[in-house]
Amino acid sequence: MNEHPTRTDAAAALTSSRQRTLALTDCLDEAELLAQHSPLMSPLVWDLAHVGNQEEIWLVREAGRLPALRPDLDAIYDAFSHPRADRPALPLLAPDAARRYLRQVRERALEVLDAAAPDWDTPGSAFGGETPVTAGGFVFGMVAQHEQQHAETMLATHQLRSGPAVLDAPAPPPAPADAAALPREVLVPGGPFTMGTDTDPWALDNERPAHTVDLAPFWLDTVPVSNRAYQEFIADGGYADPRWWSPDGWKHRQQAQLEAPLFCHRDGGAWLRRRFGRTEPVPPLEPVLHVSWYEADAYARWAGRRLPTEAEWEKAARHDPDTGRSRRHPWGDADPTAEHANLGQRHLQPAPVGSYPAGAAPSGARQLTGDVWEWTSSDFLPYPDFAAYPYKEYSEVFFGTEYKVLRGGSFGVDPVACRGTFRNWDYPIRRQIFSGFRTARDADPGEAA
Ligand code: AVJ
Ligand code: FE
Repeated sequence: MNEHPTRTDAAAALTSSRQRTLALTDCLDEAELLAQHSPLMSPLVWDLAHVGNQEEIWLVREAGRLPALRPDLDAIYDAFSHPRADRPALPLLAPDAARRYLRQVRERALEVLDAAAPDWDTPGSAFGGETPVTAGGFVFGMVAQHEQQHAETMLATHQLRSGPAVLDAPAPPPAPADAAALPREVLVPGGPFTMGTDTDPWALDNERPAHTVDLAPFWLDTVPVSNRAYQEFIADGGYADPRWWSPDGWKHRQQAQLEAPLFCHRDGGAWLRRRFGRTEPVPPLEPVLHVSWYEADAYARWAGRRLPTEAEWEKAARHDPDTGRSRRHPWGDADPTAEHANLGQRHLQPAPVGSYPAGAAPSGARQLTGDVWEWTSSDFLPYPDFAAYPYKEYSEVFFGTEYKVLRGGSFGVDPVACRGTFRNWDYPIRRQIFSGFRTARDADPGEAA
């Protein structure tokens, strides 16, 4: 989102998140919406009413100070009281009742937005004045981002369901002519940069505050690791050699019998994958998708390299060496367009490596935004002087060494929930998410001039 989101921007963000939610749920019948397609995921009808319940809590009750519509739903749709695997057993709203609830909440939320102080549209002013959650329209942006995050989760549920395909989208354009000639890696010079943000009005709590981080120079892959490169790791016996794996990763590899990325299998000499209900050849030049942190970490060691740290990733994506400041996106501060990145579920697969030259960072690295979430080597930890805002259960309860950070956003991410500062996290075993990675290595001091 731009630096000064207006009420029009907030209304548009709410409208487009709702379109996405409905597109992902209207295509399935009642039984499919109520079913649990994987123990890793909620039934889609849970996500549906959960986004409405969060919108009621934050926009109707907190921002609007209006009476509760359905306080009885809070307990059912509280993500922290019920793990995903237990959600089918809850007394969930049926799909039609959930859709009705979403409409009722949205009607009230838009009234609250209409009643917002007009000076919210004035740069630098606070909306409403009294309640800090509404400053800069933050809470509206937070709710729109929340719904879009669930839309990506719902897309992952679609990928896990069996049965005939119901989603369709055009394939991304082929890679540009220069893709094959790109340097394998780019140099990010050493020195300080600004990580995180104080000024992005809709940045979430874990992206704050801005702080200086001083890094040694490093080399970063110009593009994400491709299926072809990853298949070389498999062909070289990478899954069978404990040398490449961390101790926990090796334990998990054996227990879970990992042999290839999720949804991929070998058919004679060919690699096939299932993608949203269809089976197709694995495109060799697409970024590898549906790998766990353990697999990414093992590949990097096999390649004689390592995963980038979260700070390295952000410096490569945001630092502008000419001005010394950090950009909102790799290409600059402007909102993403179809020229910059593969975002917004426009294509239901990554674009070939080397795509989106207009989205390149100053370092020359491409596709840092969109296509696939990129695993970093870092644990999900708070920045110095972090403050939970407006609720501890967004980030704070997850901080620690159990989760690894992913950066950049996938083809399933909406632009409203995508910034160079945006932080995602998951367990190192997870791979039903739209995850890939790129690798890095230390630079010799002599190279870093
Ligand atoms: C940021 C993707 C890890 O899905 O658990 C949704 C987003 N938080 N509702 C998640 C979220 C609350 C979150 N991730
Ligand atoms: Fe949620």
